[in-house]
Amino acid sequence: MGEDGYSLRKATADDAGFLTDMLVAAVNWDPARQAVSRDRVLVNHQLAHYVEDWPRAGDFGVVAIGPDGQPVGAAWLRLFSRDDPGYGFVCEDVPELSVGVLPSWRSRGVGRALLAEVARQAAERGFARICLSVERANRARGLYASEGFTTVESGSDSDTMVMVLSER
Ligand SMILES: CC(C)(COP(=O)(O)OP(=O)(O)OC[C@H]1O[C@@H](n2cnc3c(N)ncnc32)[C@H](O)[C@@H]1OP(=O)(O)O)[C@@H](O)C(=O)NCCC(=O)NCCS
Repeated sequence: MGEDGYSLRKATADDAGFLTDMLVAAVNWDPARQAVSRDRVLVNHQLAHYVEDWPRAGDFGVVAIGPDGQPVGAAWLRLFSRDDPGYGFVCEDVPELSVGVLPSWRSRGVGRALLAEVARQAAERGFARICLSVERANRARGLYASEGFTTVESGSDSDTMVMVLSER
């Protein structure tokens, strides 16, 4: 446990439920919008495919654990195919990031620590880039930019961002 009251560990198959919680949090990042329920997220393949069948071969991620041993945040990476792309799809060998932190743990550095660790894991696995999609109004965009993600494509209200891990 670090001095900030949480520690990081690798995500495992047992984290499927918590990753789904964090996916639902990411979908519902904007408190001004009507929340999408967990059930509705899970029947919407475009959203659910970030966690479906977790862990698939090639999936990896990191979970932040609070003082009581319970997860407080997670970041994970999954490869998508051109036929079934994620919102931030760049190409089939660039895994796409999902990240979320429990509301009571936000703005305490957990998200930044998760991003740094999952990027380290990706580099260790030999990936040259990781990607994500973020709505432009989401403050998370500033976090991604400050961690080294740059915008490679802009839609009407969202951006695809890429972090280069190695110049292969
Ligand atoms: C985005 C999120 C993962 C960031 O995690 P966090 O632990 O709150 O982030 P940190 O404390 O490490 O803050 C890092 C940066 O994130 C941004 N940030 C801070 N609080 C934030 C908040 N409540 N919401 C979004 N971004 C925030 C700031 O740019 C901050 O930089 P600073 O510390 O220099 O001010 C988390 O706020 C969250 O789960 N939000 C809802 C879900 C979401 O938006 N997921 C991403 C979808 S693309």
